[in-house]
Amino acid sequence: RLDVTETFHSIMFPGHMHTKDSLNYATNFKFQDTDIVIATYPKSGTTWMQEIITLVLRKGDPTIAQTQPNWARAPWLEQYYCADVLKASTGPRIITTHLPYHLLALALQHSKAKVIYVARNLKDVSVSYYHFHKMANFLPNPGTFSDFLNEFLKGAVHYGSWFDHVKGWTSHAKDIQNFLDVTYEEMCQDLHGAVQKVSCFLQCPLTEDELNLAQKHCSFNSMKENVMVNYTLIPQKIMDHSQGKFMRKGQVGDWKNTFTKDQSRLVDDVYTSQMPDSSLLFKWE
Ligand code: PPS
Repeated sequence: RLDVTETFHSIMFPGHMHTKDSLNYATNFKFQDTDIVIATYPKSGTTWMQEIITLVLRKGDPTIAQTQPNWARAPWLEQYYCADVLKASTGPRIITTHLPYHLLALALQHSKAKVIYVARNLKDVSVSYYHFHKMANFLPNPGTFSDFLNEFLKGAVHYGSWFDHVKGWTSHAKDIQNFLDVTYEEMCQDLHGAVQKVSCFLQCPLTEDELNLAQKHCSFNSMKENVMVNYTLIPQKIMDHSQGKFMRKGQVGDWKNTFTKDQSRLVDDVYTSQMPDSSLLFKWE
């Protein structure tokens, strides 16, 4: 069975990639000042940001993006293979994490690592995550969308609550020396601007031609065809590609094709109660 669960600090993680040791390694990690950290709740634009950073660091040259799988060039800190990947890496390390802020707060204290937090509106995240549960055999069977949405809103899903994740990272932005937040929605609306924003933050300025090149290779259509990021390299028994595609739709507002009016109202109500003074205004209408 693949859908074994590892529970750590009351949060569930897929047991085929996470162990107590790997999670302890992550929470006690020694960041280097040159590290670049991508923090996301699942399905919020993780793979997209991995691709953008890979391309920005190489001035738009897609060679690495097209020859190295994303998990080998931007490993997940909390997954068991991370230490080995980092040992072999040269140059600035790109480190990905789905951990909530509170589990990394100590490790990031006083760190000059550059942290990029990517957030996506929860309605689209819930739909994307639901479809991912159907294809990922290491996640529990999600049941109907309505069943899944209820669990998702309670935070009773792998990696915990979307609300806690977004609130945790964004409200502690000031405690992280080098912090940038980006939304999936702004990346969709103005990819050129988002790539430029990331390149400025990384102090890696690109010429207009280099920006255009980077933008071309991290468009949805390019990434959909890139086997190094579209997860088709993952064996069928781990991800059932007959159940869907990892690069599924890549749109803002796709939730409208799944949500009923009542479900939408329910999410609005929970959002209002959980995020009373949130400055995060997602364009989800
Ligand atoms: S994971 O499993 O947490 O790493 O997933 P993550 O990469 O965070 O999110 C997957 C969703 O991001 C979409 N995606 C993109 N959208 C637009 N443009 C580009 N280039 C892009 N790359 C990935 C992907 O399609 C998933 O969203 P949905 O809504 O399911 O299509």
